[in-house]
Amino acid sequence: MINYSKPAMKLKIFFPGLLSGAIVFISSCNKKDTQAPPPDPCAGVNYTILSTKTESVGVSNNGTLTILEPRGDTISYKLNTGSYQSSWYFTNLAPGNYIITIKNQKGCTDTAQITILNYGPKYALVKEIIKGYCGPCHRNGGMDGGKNFDSDINIINNWDRIKARTVDGVPSFMPQAPNSPLTNVDKQKITDWVNAGHRQSD
Ligand code: HEC
Repeated sequence: MINYSKPAMKLKIFFPGLLSGAIVFISSCNKKDTQAPPPDPCAGVNYTILSTKTESVGVSNNGTLTILEPRGDTISYKLNTGSYQSSWYFTNLAPGNYIITIKNQKGCTDTAQITILNYGPKYALVKEIIKGYCGPCHRNGGMDGGKNFDSDINIINNWDRIKARTVDGVPSFMPQAPNSPLTNVDKQKITDWVNAGHRQSD
């Protein structure tokens, strides 16, 4: 979406009273400007806004947002009603929905929407393990054993099988995975999340 607001081009000139004796002459003129408006400098300007984020963990409001595209000297960025900044990196974000607005040197703007989620601290650790050790087989579309763990809901719904295959080794630890079995520290993180209730908020 491109937003560019032109100043109102309608010109209205009004000559008020001209008083002469008992006769009142009112002369008015309502003139429309017939000149074409200047060309819209934002016409055809369209950005693909690409970004990556990290979620906010616990109550720390520590989400981050990195704008990957567009970047450049003349591009500035803002979130919601904040002020424009030249940095494409935002930190200390609370969970919630955000409108990213980018602006170029001509003042043309474009927007995109993102959501910063709230992860419980135990879940955040499990998510890191899965990102680190379960790809490519179960990540980025990978579906080995019919399981994909790209989305939070798929991880949460498979909490029991994740624990079985990484902590308990039932029926076996992931045989092909290079980091299988996990370290005891990583196994403990999965166990702690499962015991806490295996939710996104745990
Ligand atoms: C190198 C590839 C590879 C990696 C890495 C890998 N897996 Fe698997 N996974 C497989 C294959 C192949 C199967 C199907 C065969 C089987 O079940 O052993 C499977 C099946 C599964 C299943 C479904 C079967 C069941 O027992 O419910 C789960 C759950 C699973 N993996 C969890 C994980 C987790 C969690 C990780 C990361 C810690 C992981 N896997 C890492 C290849 C992999």
